[in-house]
Amino acid sequence: MSKPEILVARAVFPEVIARLEEHFTVQANQADETWSQAELIARLQGKAGVFTTGGDRIDAQVLAACPQLKICANMAVGYNNFDLTAMTAAGVLATNAPDVLTETTADFGFALLMATARRITESEHFLRAGQWTKWGFDMFAGSDIHGATLGILGMGRIGQGIAKRGAHGFGMKVIYHTRSRLDAALEAECQAAYVSKDELLARADHLVLVLPYSPAAHHTIGAAELAQMKPTATLINIARGGIVDDAALAVALRNKTIAAAGLDVFEGEPAVHPDLLTVPNVVLTPHIASASLPTRLAMANLAADNLIAFLTGKAPLTPLNPAVLAAARA
Ligand code: GLV
Repeated sequence: MSKPEILVARAVFPEVIARLEEHFTVQANQADETWSQAELIARLQGKAGVFTTGGDRIDAQVLAACPQLKICANMAVGYNNFDLTAMTAAGVLATNAPDVLTETTADFGFALLMATARRITESEHFLRAGQWTKWGFDMFAGSDIHGATLGILGMGRIGQGIAKRGAHGFGMKVIYHTRSRLDAALEAECQAAYVSKDELLARADHLVLVLPYSPAAHHTIGAAELAQMKPTATLINIARGGIVDDAALAVALRNKTIAAAGLDVFEGEPAVHPDLLTVPNVVLTPHIASASLPTRLAMANLAADNLIAFLTGKAPLTPLNPAVLAAARA
C-alpha cells in the first residue's frame, strides 16, 4: 500500500522530517519559502495531512480547494490560524501542541517582564551606542519585581506557570482575571487571587497577558484599559498580536500613561507598528516565547505524532475538534 502524502508547510528539524518520512510521502519546505494562499492550495493537492505553524492560515477557502485533506497539525499551542468551525464542518481534524511548551513559555514571560521592568535592553542600546560616560544615580532606574503585584490576564497553564514563578520565586502578590476562575486548590498552588478585570488593571504593577486570541479578545487592551493602569506599570504581551491595540499602546508609552511594555507578539506580525519601533520604553522580541531548542523540538515532534497517529488509524494526542473523530466513527 502506498504511503499517505503530507505537506510540511515550513522548515522544521530534519529529524522530524525523517520521522514523518517513515510513515508518509513528505513534501517538505526546508528552504522555508513563503507561500501565498494559492501556492499553499496547489501544494496541498492530494495531501491527507499538513504540518503547519502559527502563521499558516487554514480557512474555508483552503479546505474547499483541498478535499483530500484530513488533518492539520499545528506546531503551536495557539491555533487562531485555523478556522476551527470550518474545519469541523469539513470533517478535517485540527491538532495543536499544548503542554510541552508551558514552562519554557512561562520562563520567557518572566524574562520579558524582568527585561522590561529593569530596562535591560534600553540600557544595553545606550551602552553599545557609546553613550555611557559616567555613573548616574537614576540611570535606567526601573521598577522592582520582588514584592510587587503581578497581574495575569488569562490563567491557563502558561499563566499558572508565571504565577508560580512570581509568587514562589519573587515573593510577588499575584492577582488574576480569566473567563473561568481556577478551583481553590489551583489558586492555592499559584498563590493567586481572582479579581475583576477592572481591579486587575488598576492594581497590577506588572500585567502579563496570556489569554488565547479570538475575535472576542481583539483589543482586550486598548486606550481605555491602558488609561486604567498605573503610570508606573509594565505590560507584557506573550499571548497573541491583536489582543493589544498596538497603536494605542505606542501612544500610552510615549505619553508615559504606563511606564513600559514588553512585547513578543504583534498585530500583523512579522510587521511591527512603526510607532513601537521609535519609543524607547518597550522591549520587542520576534515571537520567541517557546523558543528553547528542546521545547521547539518537542512541539515539532508532538505535531508529527498527531499526524502519524491519526493517519495510521490511532487516536491523535491533542485533538482540537474531537467531534470530527466521533463523526468518522459513526
Ligand atoms: C506560540 O505562540 C504558540 O501558540 O505555540
